[in-house]
Amino acid sequence: AAGVPAEKPADKASALVVGVIGAGTMGAGIAQIAAAAGHTVRVHDARDGAAAEAVAKLGKTFGALVAKGKMPADAAADAVARLMPAASLAELADCGLVVEAIVERLDVKNALFRELEAIVAPDAILATNTSSISVTAIARGLAHPERVAGLHFFNPVPLMKLVEVVSGLATAPDVADRLHALAGAWGKTAVRARSTPGFIVNRIARPFYAEALLLLQEQRATPDAIDAALRSAGFRMGPCELMDLIGHDVNFAVTSSVFEAFHADRRFVPSIVQRELVDGGMLGRKTGQGFYRYGEGGVMQAV
Ligand code: NAI
Repeated sequence: AAGVPAEKPADKASALVVGVIGAGTMGAGIAQIAAAAGHTVRVHDARDGAAAEAVAKLGKTFGALVAKGKMPADAAADAVARLMPAASLAELADCGLVVEAIVERLDVKNALFRELEAIVAPDAILATNTSSISVTAIARGLAHPERVAGLHFFNPVPLMKLVEVVSGLATAPDVADRLHALAGAWGKTAVRARSTPGFIVNRIARPFYAEALLLLQEQRATPDAIDAALRSAGFRMGPCELMDLIGHDVNFAVTSSVFEAFHADRRFVPSIVQRELVDGGMLGRKTGQGFYRYGEGGVMQAV
């Protein structure tokens, strides 16, 4: 696939036009870093006005970065000028790379990729930010499944360094190589994986959460104690505060998906304690209550 340069040309706009589909949490973050890295970025969302709203919000984000001294004003202005909402998918025709960050549903992603194939050039790379769906399944049925790969960012995209570059069964090695190089040029640390449930991080993190949830279920330690222990052991955050940050609904759904994908392997059994929080709408920070209560200014109190 031509069009993705191995390295970003220094101090000038890249020739690679990047399309981002889905202007939600992840899509907005991906659009931000791609524009900051010098690409023209076209943002599309199925919901009318969502792409324009996201682009307007990113204008404010870049303004805030300048105000905090984290970015020169001219670089921010250039990045903002490179970000454009696309009212229709057809406007993504000149994109050499499209990153999909829409709803986590295989049928919807399949339909989108099929539609996209008819719009972009035959050598454009189609990347998916999916965190739990098989990249092989997303590429299924396409005329060119070899140009589909996972480009899995972590939330919040501008802050989290890691990107998993995921190859499905049909992915061309060259496509994964180019995405790996591109993620590096965007300031990320890219690692490679084959498509497999949970890829690397979402799989290895399961027992980290699961053992904390079992300790809580057995009433052997409080969230405070568990978090303090893991933090002083060198983790940036303890498992309870981290689940509160991610959202119990999201965390439970990922565990359930990995559990199901591994044919109900006991190692990945979803937690009944977490299920209770989800059922009670105590989803963590976003609802003000999870294992901790979040008051004014985000101060937390163990429940
Ligand atoms: P979100 O709900 O914030 O945003 C999704 C956006 O996609 C919405 O604006 C929606 O209107 C739009 N959309 C839905 N269907 C569409 C379609 N057919 N065409 C165009 N736009 C469509 O979701 P979020 O959290 O940004 O997640 C997006 C993807 O990224 C999912 O695949 C998710 O699994 C993955 N992901 C999410 C992470 C997270 O922490 N939120 C982390 C890593 C991956």
